[in-house]
Amino acid sequence: MLDAAIPGPPGHWLIGNLRDIDVDNTMESMCRLTRIHGPIWKFYLGAEERIVVGSQVLMDEVCDESRFTKVIAAVLKQARNGVHDGLGTAHGLEETNWGIAHRILAPHFASIAVENTFDDMHDIATQLMLKWTRYGPTHDIHVTDDFTRLTLDAIALSTMGYRFNSFYQESMHPFINALATFLNTNAERAKRSSVLQPICMLENYRYWGSIEELRKISYAIISERKLQPSDRKDMLNTMLHGIDPETRDQMTEESVVNNMITFLFAGHETTSGLLSFTFYYILSNPAAYTRARQEVDDVVGDAVITAVHLARLPYLSAVLRESLRLSPTVPAIVLAAKEDTTLGGKYRVKAKAPIVALLAAVHRDRRVYGSDADAFRPERMLDEEFNQRNQEFPNCWKPFGNGMRGCIGRFFAQQQALLVAAMILQSFDLSLSDPSYRLRTKQMLTVKPDGFRMRARPRHYVS
Ligand code: HEM
Repeated sequence: MLDAAIPGPPGHWLIGNLRDIDVDNTMESMCRLTRIHGPIWKFYLGAEERIVVGSQVLMDEVCDESRFTKVIAAVLKQARNGVHDGLGTAHGLEETNWGIAHRILAPHFASIAVENTFDDMHDIATQLMLKWTRYGPTHDIHVTDDFTRLTLDAIALSTMGYRFNSFYQESMHPFINALATFLNTNAERAKRSSVLQPICMLENYRYWGSIEELRKISYAIISERKLQPSDRKDMLNTMLHGIDPETRDQMTEESVVNNMITFLFAGHETTSGLLSFTFYYILSNPAAYTRARQEVDDVVGDAVITAVHLARLPYLSAVLRESLRLSPTVPAIVLAAKEDTTLGGKYRVKAKAPIVALLAAVHRDRRVYGSDADAFRPERMLDEEFNQRNQEFPNCWKPFGNGMRGCIGRFFAQQQALLVAAMILQSFDLSLSDPSYRLRTKQMLTVKPDGFRMRARPRHYVS
Protein backbone atom coordinates (compact mmCIF):
# COMPACT_ATOMS: atom_id res chain seq x y z
CA MET A 1 0.00 0.00 0.00
CA LEU A 2 1.18 3.57 -0.77
CA ASP A 3 2.22 5.78 2.13
CA ALA A 4 -0.57 8.15 3.22
CA ALA A 5 -0.16 11.64 4.63
CA ILE A 6 -1.11 12.00 8.28
CA PRO A 7 -3.94 14.55 8.47
CA GLY A 8 -4.02 17.48 10.87
CA PRO A 9 -5.03 21.08 11.35
CA PRO A 10 -3.16 23.49 9.06
CA GLY A 11 -0.55 25.35 11.11
CA HIS A 12 1.12 28.77 11.07
CA TRP A 13 4.62 28.72 9.51
CA LEU A 14 6.20 30.16 12.68
CA ILE A 15 4.14 29.00 15.66
CA GLY A 16 2.76 25.79 14.19
CA ASN A 17 -0.60 24.80 15.73
CA LEU A 18 -0.27 26.74 18.97
CA ARG A 19 -3.60 28.46 18.28
CA ASP A 20 -5.42 25.11 17.90
CA ILE A 21 -4.31 23.75 21.27
CA ASP A 22 -5.43 25.28 24.56
CA VAL A 23 -2.16 25.14 26.52
CA ASP A 24 -4.09 25.09 29.81
CA ASN A 25 -6.10 22.03 28.82
CA THR A 26 -4.20 20.29 26.03
CA MET A 27 -6.14 17.06 26.48
CA GLU A 28 -9.55 18.58 25.82
CA SER A 29 -8.15 20.24 22.68
CA MET A 30 -6.58 16.98 21.53
CA CYS A 31 -9.79 15.00 22.08
CA ARG A 32 -11.72 17.65 20.10
CA LEU A 33 -9.16 17.49 17.26
CA THR A 34 -9.30 13.67 17.29
CA ARG A 35 -13.06 13.90 16.71
CA ILE A 36 -12.39 16.21 13.74
CA HIS A 37 -9.33 14.57 12.11
CA GLY A 38 -9.79 10.93 13.07
CA PRO A 39 -7.74 8.41 15.06
CA ILE A 40 -4.35 9.55 13.77
CA TRP A 41 -3.38 13.16 13.16
CA LYS A 42 -0.44 15.45 13.65
CA PHE A 43 0.26 18.95 14.84
CA TYR A 44 3.27 21.22 15.23
CA LEU A 45 4.61 23.03 18.29
CA GLY A 46 6.81 25.54 16.47
CA ALA A 47 8.81 23.30 14.16
CA GLU A 48 8.39 20.19 16.31
CA GLU A 49 6.00 17.57 14.96
CA ARG A 50 3.76 15.53 17.25
CA ILE A 51 1.64 12.59 16.08
CA VAL A 52 -1.50 11.76 18.05
CA VAL A 53 -3.21 8.35 18.09
CA GLY A 54 -6.68 7.91 19.56
CA SER A 55 -8.12 4.48 18.70
CA GLN A 56 -7.72 1.01 20.19
CA VAL A 57 -6.20 -0.42 16.99
CA LEU A 58 -3.43 2.18 16.88
CA MET A 59 -2.99 2.04 20.66
CA ASP A 60 -2.48 -1.70 20.38
CA GLU A 61 0.17 -1.13 17.74
CA VAL A 62 2.18 1.47 19.72
CA CYS A 63 2.01 -0.72 22.84
CA ASP A 64 4.30 -3.21 21.05
CA GLU A 65 7.47 -2.72 23.10
CA SER A 66 9.63 -4.38 20.46
CA ARG A 67 8.86 -1.42 18.12
CA PHE A 68 7.99 1.51 20.40
CA THR A 69 9.37 2.94 23.62
CA LYS A 70 8.48 5.65 26.15
CA VAL A 71 9.77 9.16 25.45
CA ILE A 72 10.50 11.76 28.10
CA ALA A 73 8.79 14.85 26.73
CA ALA A 74 7.01 18.03 27.86
CA VAL A 75 6.27 18.05 31.62
CA LEU A 76 8.27 14.87 32.33
CA LYS A 77 11.29 16.43 30.62
CA GLN A 78 11.04 19.37 33.03
CA ALA A 79 10.50 17.06 36.02
CA ARG A 80 13.91 15.51 35.29
CA ASN A 81 15.40 18.75 36.66
CA GLY A 82 14.27 17.62 40.10
CA VAL A 83 14.27 13.82 40.04
CA HIS A 84 16.79 13.02 37.28
CA ASP A 85 16.76 9.28 36.49
CA GLY A 86 13.97 8.42 38.97
CA LEU A 87 11.60 5.71 37.72
CA GLY A 88 9.09 7.95 35.91
CA THR A 89 11.58 10.30 34.24
CA ALA A 90 14.45 7.95 33.36
CA HIS A 91 15.04 7.22 29.69
CA GLY A 92 14.72 3.51 30.42
CA LEU A 93 17.18 0.66 30.25
CA GLU A 94 19.88 2.97 28.91
CA GLU A 95 20.02 4.48 32.43
CA THR A 96 21.25 1.79 34.79
CA ASN A 97 19.62 3.33 37.88
CA TRP A 98 16.18 2.74 36.33
CA GLY A 99 16.82 -1.01 35.97
CA ILE A 100 18.22 -1.35 39.50
CA ALA A 101 15.34 0.61 41.08
CA HIS A 102 12.73 -1.18 38.97
CA ARG A 103 13.95 -4.66 39.86
CA ILE A 104 14.27 -3.84 43.57
CA LEU A 105 10.91 -2.05 43.83
CA ALA A 106 8.58 -3.93 41.47
CA PRO A 107 8.15 -6.97 43.77
CA HIS A 108 7.46 -4.62 46.67
CA PHE A 109 4.69 -2.89 44.72
CA ALA A 110 3.15 -6.21 43.68
CA SER A 111 -0.37 -6.72 45.00
CA ILE A 112 0.43 -9.00 47.94
CA ALA A 113 3.16 -6.72 49.25
CA VAL A 114 0.87 -3.71 49.00
CA GLU A 115 -1.43 -5.34 51.55
CA ASN A 116 1.27 -4.46 54.11
CA THR A 117 0.31 -0.83 53.59
CA PHE A 118 -3.38 -1.36 54.41
CA ASP A 119 -3.17 -0.18 58.02
CA ASP A 120 -1.39 3.05 57.08
CA MET A 121 -3.93 3.77 54.34
CA HIS A 122 -6.76 3.05 56.77
CA ASP A 123 -5.20 5.36 59.37
CA ILE A 124 -5.18 8.33 56.97
CA ALA A 125 -8.64 7.53 55.55
CA THR A 126 -10.03 7.54 59.09
CA GLN A 127 -8.69 11.09 59.50
CA LEU A 128 -10.67 12.13 56.42
CA MET A 129 -13.89 10.51 57.73
CA LEU A 130 -13.45 12.39 61.00
CA LYS A 131 -12.86 15.68 59.22
CA TRP A 132 -15.96 15.33 57.03
CA THR A 133 -18.06 14.25 60.04
CA ARG A 134 -16.98 17.37 61.89
CA TYR A 135 -17.75 19.60 58.90
CA GLY A 136 -21.43 18.69 59.29
CA PRO A 137 -23.97 18.03 56.55
CA THR A 138 -24.21 21.55 55.07
CA HIS A 139 -20.52 22.19 54.47
CA ASP A 140 -19.40 22.37 50.83
CA ILE A 141 -16.42 20.04 50.65
CA HIS A 142 -13.59 20.93 48.25
CA VAL A 143 -13.46 17.32 47.16
CA THR A 144 -10.20 17.31 45.20
CA ASP A 145 -8.29 19.33 47.82
CA ASP A 146 -9.21 16.88 50.57
CA PHE A 147 -8.42 13.85 48.42
CA THR A 148 -5.05 15.40 47.59
CA ARG A 149 -4.26 15.79 51.30
CA LEU A 150 -5.34 12.19 51.82
CA THR A 151 -3.28 10.66 49.01
CA LEU A 152 -0.12 12.63 49.87
CA ASP A 153 -0.33 11.68 53.53
CA ALA A 154 -1.06 8.04 52.68
CA ILE A 155 1.90 7.69 50.32
CA ALA A 156 4.30 9.38 52.73
CA LEU A 157 3.16 7.23 55.64
CA SER A 158 3.02 3.91 53.83
CA THR A 159 6.15 4.30 51.74
CA MET A 160 8.48 5.94 54.29
CA GLY A 161 6.74 6.01 57.65
CA TYR A 162 6.57 9.82 57.55
CA ARG A 163 3.56 11.91 58.63
CA PHE A 164 2.74 15.17 56.82
CA ASN A 165 -0.42 15.51 58.99
CA SER A 166 -2.10 17.59 56.28
CA PHE A 167 -5.52 17.30 57.92
CA TYR A 168 -4.22 18.93 61.08
CA GLN A 169 -2.39 21.98 59.69
CA GLU A 170 -3.59 25.36 58.53
CA SER A 171 -0.48 25.78 56.38
CA MET A 172 0.91 22.83 54.48
CA HIS A 173 4.14 20.97 55.34
CA PRO A 174 7.16 22.63 53.60
CA PHE A 175 7.65 19.48 51.50
CA ILE A 176 4.10 19.76 50.15
CA ASN A 177 4.51 23.46 49.36
CA ALA A 178 7.78 22.75 47.58
CA LEU A 179 6.18 19.85 45.68
CA ALA A 180 3.32 22.10 44.54
CA THR A 181 5.77 24.77 43.29
CA PHE A 182 7.86 22.11 41.54
CA LEU A 183 4.85 20.53 39.79
CA ASN A 184 3.14 23.80 38.82
CA THR A 185 6.35 25.24 37.44
CA ASN A 186 7.16 22.09 35.47
CA ALA A 187 3.78 22.54 33.75
CA GLU A 188 4.46 26.24 33.04
CA ARG A 189 7.99 25.60 31.74
CA ALA A 190 6.70 22.85 29.42
CA LYS A 191 4.39 25.38 27.73
CA ARG A 192 7.13 27.81 26.70
CA SER A 193 10.21 27.68 24.52
CA SER A 194 13.46 26.93 26.38
CA VAL A 195 14.87 30.17 24.91
CA LEU A 196 12.47 32.16 27.12
CA GLN A 197 13.31 30.26 30.31
CA PRO A 198 16.23 32.42 31.54
CA ILE A 199 14.12 35.61 31.59
CA CYS A 200 11.58 34.13 34.03
CA MET A 201 13.91 35.00 36.87
CA LEU A 202 11.55 35.03 39.85
CA GLU A 203 9.96 31.77 38.69
CA ASN A 204 13.41 30.20 38.22
CA TYR A 205 14.46 31.27 41.70
CA ARG A 206 11.37 29.65 43.26
CA TYR A 207 11.62 26.57 41.03
CA TRP A 208 15.23 25.69 41.81
CA GLY A 209 14.57 26.59 45.46
CA SER A 210 11.68 24.10 45.56
CA ILE A 211 13.89 21.35 44.14
CA GLU A 212 16.54 22.08 46.78
CA GLU A 213 13.88 21.94 49.51
CA LEU A 214 12.43 18.63 48.26
CA ARG A 215 15.83 17.02 48.15
CA LYS A 216 16.93 18.45 51.51
CA ILE A 217 13.84 17.07 53.29
CA SER A 218 14.22 13.71 51.54
CA TYR A 219 17.86 13.40 52.64
CA ALA A 220 16.77 14.34 56.19
CA ILE A 221 14.14 11.54 56.18
CA ILE A 222 16.82 9.07 55.05
CA SER A 223 19.25 10.23 57.77
CA GLU A 224 16.53 9.86 60.40
CA ARG A 225 15.80 6.30 59.24
CA LYS A 226 19.50 5.47 59.33
CA LEU A 227 19.85 6.91 62.84
CA GLN A 228 16.72 5.13 64.04
CA PRO A 229 16.44 1.96 61.97
CA SER A 230 13.00 0.38 61.86
CA ASP A 231 11.80 -3.05 60.80
CA ARG A 232 8.86 -1.59 58.83
CA LYS A 233 8.36 -3.44 55.55
CA ASP A 234 8.08 -0.17 53.65
CA MET A 235 9.45 1.24 50.40
CA LEU A 236 12.14 3.28 52.16
CA ASN A 237 13.65 0.20 53.81
CA THR A 238 13.36 -1.68 50.52
CA MET A 239 15.21 1.12 48.72
CA LEU A 240 17.90 1.45 51.39
CA HIS A 241 18.59 -2.25 51.84
CA GLY A 242 17.24 -4.02 48.73
CA ILE A 243 19.63 -5.79 46.36
CA ASP A 244 19.09 -5.94 42.62
CA PRO A 245 18.69 -9.67 41.80
CA GLU A 246 20.33 -9.14 38.40
CA THR A 247 23.42 -6.99 39.13
CA ARG A 248 23.63 -7.46 42.94
CA ASP A 249 23.85 -3.64 43.16
CA GLN A 250 22.05 -1.49 45.73
CA MET A 251 20.34 1.80 44.95
CA THR A 252 22.53 4.85 45.53
CA GLU A 253 21.31 7.42 48.07
CA GLU A 254 20.82 9.85 45.17
CA SER A 255 18.56 7.33 43.42
CA VAL A 256 16.59 6.73 46.66
CA VAL A 257 15.93 10.49 46.89
CA ASN A 258 14.89 10.69 43.22
CA ASN A 259 12.41 7.90 43.74
CA MET A 260 11.03 9.13 47.08
CA ILE A 261 10.06 12.39 45.38
CA THR A 262 8.83 10.48 42.30
CA PHE A 263 6.41 8.32 44.34
CA LEU A 264 4.92 11.42 45.90
CA PHE A 265 4.46 13.32 42.67
CA ALA A 266 3.43 10.31 40.56
CA GLY A 267 1.10 8.85 43.15
CA HIS A 268 -0.87 11.61 44.82
CA GLU A 269 -2.66 13.70 42.16
CA THR A 270 -3.35 10.64 40.05
CA THR A 271 -5.18 8.84 42.85
CA SER A 272 -6.78 12.04 44.17
CA GLY A 273 -8.15 12.72 40.67
CA LEU A 274 -9.45 9.14 40.40
CA LEU A 275 -11.36 9.48 43.69
CA SER A 276 -12.70 12.92 42.73
CA PHE A 277 -13.98 11.80 39.30
CA THR A 278 -15.45 8.66 40.88
CA PHE A 279 -17.59 10.65 43.30
CA TYR A 280 -18.66 13.05 40.56
CA TYR A 281 -19.81 10.07 38.43
CA ILE A 282 -21.48 8.34 41.38
CA LEU A 283 -23.40 11.48 42.30
CA SER A 284 -24.46 12.02 38.70
CA ASN A 285 -25.72 8.43 38.33
CA PRO A 286 -28.17 7.57 41.12
CA ALA A 287 -28.52 3.90 40.07
CA ALA A 288 -24.76 3.36 40.31
CA TYR A 289 -24.69 5.16 43.66
CA THR A 290 -27.46 2.96 45.08
CA ARG A 291 -25.85 -0.25 43.84
CA ALA A 292 -22.36 0.65 45.08
CA ARG A 293 -23.64 1.63 48.51
CA GLN A 294 -25.77 -1.50 48.77
CA GLU A 295 -22.72 -3.62 48.00
CA VAL A 296 -20.72 -1.89 50.75
CA ASP A 297 -23.62 -2.32 53.20
CA ASP A 298 -23.95 -6.03 52.34
CA VAL A 299 -20.24 -6.80 52.53
CA VAL A 300 -18.96 -4.45 55.24
CA GLY A 301 -22.09 -3.31 57.08
CA ASP A 302 -21.19 -1.45 60.27
CA ALA A 303 -17.90 -3.30 60.74
CA VAL A 304 -14.45 -1.76 60.59
CA ILE A 305 -13.34 -2.39 57.02
CA THR A 306 -10.47 -4.87 56.45
CA ALA A 307 -8.35 -5.94 53.48
CA VAL A 308 -10.53 -9.07 53.19
CA HIS A 309 -13.64 -6.94 52.52
CA LEU A 310 -11.93 -5.20 49.60
CA ALA A 311 -11.70 -8.39 47.56
CA ARG A 312 -15.50 -8.73 47.87
CA LEU A 313 -16.47 -5.39 46.29
CA PRO A 314 -16.67 -6.20 42.55
CA TYR A 315 -19.19 -3.50 41.68
CA LEU A 316 -17.28 -0.70 43.41
CA SER A 317 -14.09 -1.94 41.71
CA ALA A 318 -15.95 -1.72 38.38
CA VAL A 319 -17.02 1.84 39.27
CA LEU A 320 -13.35 2.79 39.68
CA ARG A 321 -12.39 1.14 36.38
CA GLU A 322 -15.22 2.94 34.57
CA SER A 323 -14.19 6.25 36.10
CA LEU A 324 -10.60 5.69 34.90
CA ARG A 325 -11.95 4.83 31.46
CA LEU A 326 -13.98 8.01 31.05
CA SER A 327 -11.53 10.25 32.89
CA PRO A 328 -8.02 8.76 32.88
CA THR A 329 -6.17 11.01 35.32
CA VAL A 330 -3.01 10.54 33.24
CA PRO A 331 -4.75 11.33 29.96
CA ALA A 332 -1.91 10.42 27.58
CA ILE A 333 1.45 8.69 27.39
CA VAL A 334 4.19 9.61 24.93
CA LEU A 335 6.02 6.97 22.90
CA ALA A 336 8.28 6.85 19.87
CA ALA A 337 9.25 4.25 17.27
CA LYS A 338 12.68 2.70 17.87
CA GLU A 339 13.30 2.70 14.10
CA ASP A 340 11.58 4.33 11.11
CA THR A 341 8.33 2.41 10.66
CA THR A 342 4.79 2.35 9.25
CA LEU A 343 1.83 2.88 11.54
CA GLY A 344 -1.72 1.76 10.77
CA GLY A 345 -0.41 -0.01 7.65
CA LYS A 346 0.17 3.24 5.71
CA TYR A 347 1.55 6.14 7.76
CA ARG A 348 5.32 6.57 7.72
CA VAL A 349 6.70 7.48 11.13
CA LYS A 350 10.29 8.44 11.84
CA ALA A 351 12.31 6.89 14.66
CA LYS A 352 12.21 8.96 17.88
CA ALA A 353 9.35 11.21 16.64
CA PRO A 354 7.02 11.68 19.66
CA ILE A 355 3.66 9.90 19.39
CA VAL A 356 1.01 10.98 21.89
CA ALA A 357 -1.17 7.97 22.75
CA LEU A 358 -4.35 9.75 23.82
CA LEU A 359 -5.86 7.46 26.46
CA ALA A 360 -8.79 9.84 26.89
CA ALA A 361 -9.78 9.15 23.26
CA VAL A 362 -8.79 5.45 23.09
CA HIS A 363 -11.02 4.76 26.11
CA ARG A 364 -14.05 6.11 24.22
CA ASP A 365 -13.47 4.19 20.98
CA ARG A 366 -16.99 3.27 19.79
CA ARG A 367 -15.74 0.18 17.96
CA VAL A 368 -14.83 -1.19 21.38
CA TYR A 369 -17.31 0.35 23.81
CA GLY A 370 -20.33 0.77 21.50
CA SER A 371 -22.67 3.70 20.97
CA ASP A 372 -22.84 4.46 24.71
CA ALA A 373 -19.05 4.82 24.97
CA ASP A 374 -19.49 8.27 26.54
CA ALA A 375 -21.88 7.02 29.22
CA PHE A 376 -20.91 6.00 32.76
CA ARG A 377 -21.94 2.34 32.93
CA PRO A 378 -19.87 0.43 35.54
CA GLU A 379 -21.58 -2.88 34.69
CA ARG A 380 -19.41 -3.12 31.57
CA MET A 381 -16.33 -3.17 33.82
CA LEU A 382 -17.33 -6.21 35.91
CA ASP A 383 -14.62 -8.87 35.68
CA GLU A 384 -16.12 -11.19 33.06
CA GLU A 385 -17.02 -8.52 30.50
CA PHE A 386 -13.85 -6.55 31.31
CA ASN A 387 -11.54 -9.52 30.72
CA GLN A 388 -13.39 -10.66 27.61
CA ARG A 389 -13.18 -7.17 26.08
CA ASN A 390 -9.48 -6.84 26.88
CA GLN A 391 -8.88 -10.12 25.03
CA GLU A 392 -10.95 -9.12 22.03
CA PHE A 393 -9.59 -5.56 21.90
CA PRO A 394 -6.09 -5.64 23.43
CA ASN A 395 -4.88 -2.43 25.08
CA CYS A 396 -8.32 -0.79 24.97
CA TRP A 397 -8.08 0.21 28.67
CA LYS A 398 -4.67 1.61 29.61
CA PRO A 399 -5.04 4.13 32.47
CA PHE A 400 -1.86 2.80 34.05
CA GLY A 401 0.29 3.05 30.93
CA ASN A 402 2.14 0.33 29.09
CA GLY A 403 4.53 -2.57 29.64
CA MET A 404 7.70 -2.18 31.62
CA ARG A 405 7.18 1.61 31.82
CA GLY A 406 3.62 1.13 33.08
CA CYS A 407 2.61 2.27 36.54
CA ILE A 408 4.58 0.56 39.30
CA GLY A 409 2.09 1.92 41.87
CA ARG A 410 -1.14 0.68 40.30
CA PHE A 411 -2.00 -1.91 42.96
CA PHE A 412 -1.24 0.62 45.65
CA ALA A 413 -3.53 3.16 43.94
CA GLN A 414 -6.31 0.64 43.32
CA GLN A 415 -6.25 -0.56 46.92
CA GLN A 416 -6.27 2.95 48.29
CA ALA A 417 -9.07 4.19 46.02
CA LEU A 418 -11.24 1.15 46.79
CA LEU A 419 -10.68 1.46 50.53
CA VAL A 420 -11.44 5.19 50.65
CA ALA A 421 -14.47 4.95 48.35
CA ALA A 422 -15.92 2.11 50.44
CA MET A 423 -15.35 3.96 53.72
CA ILE A 424 -17.03 7.11 52.37
CA LEU A 425 -20.07 5.18 51.10
CA GLN A 426 -20.28 3.36 54.42
CA SER A 427 -20.11 6.59 56.44
CA PHE A 428 -22.00 9.31 54.54
CA ASP A 429 -25.03 10.23 52.49
CA LEU A 430 -23.61 12.34 49.69
CA SER A 431 -25.03 15.04 47.45
CA LEU A 432 -23.72 17.58 44.94
CA SER A 433 -23.40 21.04 46.54
CA ASP A 434 -24.73 22.49 43.31
CA PRO A 435 -27.13 20.04 41.61
CA SER A 436 -26.63 21.87 38.29
CA TYR A 437 -22.83 21.29 38.35
CA ARG A 438 -21.53 19.69 35.13
CA LEU A 439 -18.04 18.25 34.91
CA ARG A 440 -15.26 20.70 34.04
CA THR A 441 -11.64 19.63 34.14
CA LYS A 442 -8.36 21.21 35.11
CA GLN A 443 -5.07 19.88 33.77
CA MET A 444 -1.54 20.06 35.13
CA LEU A 445 0.57 16.90 35.06
CA THR A 446 -2.71 15.05 35.61
CA VAL A 447 -6.39 15.87 35.05
CA LYS A 448 -8.83 16.62 37.89
CA PRO A 449 -12.40 17.89 38.15
CA ASP A 450 -12.59 21.67 38.47
CA GLY A 451 -14.94 23.34 40.94
CA PHE A 452 -16.50 20.06 42.13
CA ARG A 453 -18.06 20.38 45.62
CA MET A 454 -20.18 17.91 47.52
CA ARG A 455 -21.88 17.58 50.89
CA ALA A 456 -21.53 14.63 53.24
CA ARG A 457 -24.17 13.86 55.88
CA PRO A 458 -23.07 11.18 58.34
CA ARG A 459 -25.43 8.25 57.71
CA HIS A 460 -26.43 7.94 61.33
CA TYR A 461 -26.69 11.68 61.81
CA VAL A 462 -28.98 12.91 64.58
CA SER A 463 -29.83 16.60 64.23
C1 HEM B 1 3.88 5.44 35.78
C2 HEM B 1 -0.91 6.22 35.96
C3 HEM B 1 -0.76 5.92 40.82
C4 HEM B 1 4.06 5.58 40.66
C5 HEM B 1 2.57 5.66 35.43
C6 HEM B 1 2.09 5.75 34.07
C7 HEM B 1 0.75 5.99 34.12
C8 HEM B 1 0.38 6.02 35.51
C9 HEM B 1 -0.19 6.18 32.93
C10 HEM B 1 2.95 5.67 32.79
C11 HEM B 1 3.48 7.06 32.48
C12 HEM B 1 4.23 7.15 31.18
O1 HEM B 1 4.21 6.24 30.36
O2 HEM B 1 4.85 8.21 30.99
C13 HEM B 1 -1.27 6.20 37.30
C14 HEM B 1 -2.63 6.36 37.77
C15 HEM B 1 -2.59 6.27 39.14
C16 HEM B 1 -1.20 6.07 39.52
C17 HEM B 1 -3.84 6.60 36.87
C18 HEM B 1 -3.70 6.35 40.13
C19 HEM B 1 -4.98 6.22 39.86
C20 HEM B 1 0.56 5.75 41.21
C21 HEM B 1 1.02 5.58 42.57
C22 HEM B 1 2.39 5.51 42.52
C23 HEM B 1 2.77 5.62 41.12
C24 HEM B 1 0.12 5.51 43.80
C25 HEM B 1 3.39 5.33 43.63
C26 HEM B 1 3.13 5.14 44.89
C27 HEM B 1 4.42 5.53 39.32
C28 HEM B 1 5.80 5.44 38.85
C29 HEM B 1 5.75 5.39 37.46
C30 HEM B 1 4.33 5.47 37.08
C31 HEM B 1 7.04 5.40 39.74
C32 HEM B 1 6.93 5.27 36.49
C33 HEM B 1 7.23 3.81 36.25
C34 HEM B 1 8.44 3.62 35.32
O3 HEM B 1 8.51 4.30 34.30
O4 HEM B 1 9.27 2.79 35.63
N1 HEM B 1 1.50 5.81 36.28
N2 HEM B 1 -0.44 6.04 38.37
N3 HEM B 1 1.64 5.76 40.36
N4 HEM B 1 3.57 5.54 38.23
FE1 HEM B 1 1.56 5.70 38.32
